[in-house]
Amino acid sequence: MLSSQTIEIIKSTVPVLEVKGTEITTVFYKNLFENHPELLNIFNHTNQKRGRQQTALANAVLAAATYIDKLETIIPVVKQIAHKHRSLMIKPEHYPIVGEHLLGAIKQVLGDAATDEIIGAWADAYGVIAQVFIDIEKEMYEEAKEAAWEDYKSFKVIDKVKESEVITSFYLTPVDSIALPEFQPGQYITVRVRVTGDEYLSNRQYSLSAAPNKEYLRISVKREAEEQSPEGKVSNYLHHNINIGDSIESTAPAGDFIINRKESSVVFLSGGVGITPFMSMVNSIADQQPERGVKFVHASRTGKLQPFNSELKLLKERMTNLELSFIIENPSEEDKKDIHFNKQGYIDTEWLQENVISDDADYYVCGPVPFLRAIVGGLKSLGIQNSNIHYEFFGPAIDLAK
Ligand code: HEM
Repeated sequence: MLSSQTIEIIKSTVPVLEVKGTEITTVFYKNLFENHPELLNIFNHTNQKRGRQQTALANAVLAAATYIDKLETIIPVVKQIAHKHRSLMIKPEHYPIVGEHLLGAIKQVLGDAATDEIIGAWADAYGVIAQVFIDIEKEMYEEAKEAAWEDYKSFKVIDKVKESEVITSFYLTPVDSIALPEFQPGQYITVRVRVTGDEYLSNRQYSLSAAPNKEYLRISVKREAEEQSPEGKVSNYLHHNINIGDSIESTAPAGDFIINRKESSVVFLSGGVGITPFMSMVNSIADQQPERGVKFVHASRTGKLQPFNSELKLLKERMTNLELSFIIENPSEEDKKDIHFNKQGYIDTEWLQENVISDDADYYVCGPVPFLRAIVGGLKSLGIQNSNIHYEFFGPAIDLAK
């Protein structure tokens, strides 16, 4: 339990620290990696280079401190982050390292203003916040160990299928022939590779794109940007260097973006590679509830970027109430001749109203941030309740607590 005096100090210093947030987190990461270069095997180097992680981990600690006297209100957000931590093998012993470097960074940036009293209060608060994460993650490690496996495992690529100009699927089966887990459609795995010439390992999360089955896990990877750019490093490596027969490592499935009700009809709205979790969900509905009402909407920039076309058509034959809609922003003349699409341009509120809104449906949205904003905003403006809208949030999850 923190004393009321400590809570008061924390609450009065959060605004100051938030103003200095970027400075503190930049110093934090620089010192962290200088003293613990082995952590570069865990952190996403691209996020580091682009400053994205600077706005996530350390800022999340500052944000959590705002809720220091009612941490139970941010438990759902903590769980979402904890899924990611568990999938990256973040362990209790990592927390004191992060704590020490965060406090060190606060001291370094604030100088004399960071009195012993302030630093002491922050050390106590960090300890409490870290413990909440450690406890939740402990349960998740135990569950994963029981249902699947604990650490990274080697997987062999048994098939590699091009799904669109930029998306390729990899079918993975465990090298040591353990049974595959009953994961929840919508969950992701962390894939770990050593890109040729790199000193450190690289990790990336990819949604599973097939229904749970006994033979393989499937991920469908979008080739991002250029090979030389930080964004494109891992996806280009997978596309160009990982072939049938090769091995990659993965942790057990994680994540809480899952279908939360069995009875309702469902609407899947995806943009670009945001389609991947929905391929797992719709395949699993086809296996278990082929009569369930499903509206599946996908938006892409061109016809060549539209993935899983033939798989979706086959699903339509297996399901009695599957409606497919394809939206193409900018179809080429070739697309207009060869590809069926329902709308040219963007999904707007009017189109949503006419095509997807129905009573008691659950809406699942996944895609780039502008897509999410437009669709979630559109659904809300049409009177859909927050509790019926579910989306994969691409950004520092702690923002949701605000
Ligand atoms: C990701 C918060 C401790 C390593 C994240 C994210 C948040 C966060 C908000 C982004 C989640 C997302 O992308 O959905 C926190 C908080 C911590 C904490 C509040 C302490 C109380 C740690 C520790 C480590 C760690 C101890 C390991 C040394 C990571 C890594 C990622 C991550 C590797 C993935 C993002 C990337 O690599 O760019 N954390 N974290 N975190 N965290 Fe933590």
